[in-house]
Amino acid sequence: MSETILITGAAGQLGQRVIHHLLETCKVPAASLIAASRDTSKLADLAAKGVATRKADFDDAASLEEAFEGVDRVLLISTDALAVPGLRLKQHTTAVAAAVKAGVKHIAYTSMPSPDKSLVTFAPDHLGTETAIKASGLPYTIIRNAWYLDNYMHSMPHNLQGGSWYTASGDGKVPNISREDCAMGAAAALASGTTESATYTLTGSQSLNADQIAAIISDVAGKPLAAVQVNDEQLNQGMLGAGLPDFVATMLVSADANIRAGNFDHVTTDFNRLTGKQPQTLKEFFVAHKAALTA
Ligand SMILES: NC(=O)c1ccc[n+]([C@@H]2O[C@H](COP(=O)([O-])OP(=O)(O)OC[C@H]3O[C@@H](n4cnc5c(N)ncnc54)[C@H](OP(=O)(O)O)[C@@H]3O)[C@@H](O)[C@H]2O)c1
Repeated sequence: MSETILITGAAGQLGQRVIHHLLETCKVPAASLIAASRDTSKLADLAAKGVATRKADFDDAASLEEAFEGVDRVLLISTDALAVPGLRLKQHTTAVAAAVKAGVKHIAYTSMPSPDKSLVTFAPDHLGTETAIKASGLPYTIIRNAWYLDNYMHSMPHNLQGGSWYTASGDGKVPNISREDCAMGAAAALASGTTESATYTLTGSQSLNADQIAAIISDVAGKPLAAVQVNDEQLNQGMLGAGLPDFVATMLVSADANIRAGNFDHVTTDFNRLTGKQPQTLKEFFVAHKAALTA
């Protein structure tokens, strides 16, 4: 009997794709998987494939202890609770404590690159969670996902309409990776059955600055796009003016500052080591999403 692997956040975009790759790419039997979510009604497709489903809410310690019962390996997908300072770290440490209490043998967690050296507002959540996992004494796999390529799809269709991308990233470079590749990497790490502790940083194979990214997007879309450098305050005001909530604007400004400082500029081969594949390039990603990019 193979070990039992539980994935939290299974209704989320990453969670869905991790389970897809566990089943289809890594050939893990559905009977070895448990999909956990705050809302199990969103997991009907997985249940139909023979994947067990359980309720797991990081705001509800009792639900976590119950969900983790009899589980060998758990993937804790970081939550999106950024609006309330301190909440996400509390959620994550609650989940780590529940995993220990339930007798889970191995904890995996989706983190961010170099959380100990980052200007991004939510870096302390990831650093604190990694620290709690290491302090738990359990073997762990920390999967530090670089900035998703998918994040650009929020703004680039609009930017292409005006031909300008306002950024405060300066000449800083970032090795984006697709969410899909992060999911494939996490699935490979989970399916490996490792009993060792390891930290992987999943990045794309190229680190690019804003001018290079704009040129590639412009080429794929067949429309002009210029990266226009602004300062942090201008970027913040622009995003607030566009209707983004304060905490989101502050977070995005901090992300650009982190790129500008060179803190994201680190390409790894960890995706290749885990999957035996090359990550999708920025150009390949936008070619695949051209219809939505130019809609
Ligand atoms: N690297 C990047 O660029 C990047 C970009 C966006 C997000 N992220 C991080 O990566 C995570 C997964 O990304 P995604 O693309 O799948 O985002 P998403 O589709 O927005 O998913 C949000 C996730 O948070 C989970 N969640 C929220 N509140 C929770 C709670 N109280 N208890 C348990 N789980 C909770 C959701 O699980 P259920 O709905 O199933 O309960 C879901 O899996 C995000 O939550 C965020 O931490 C990284």
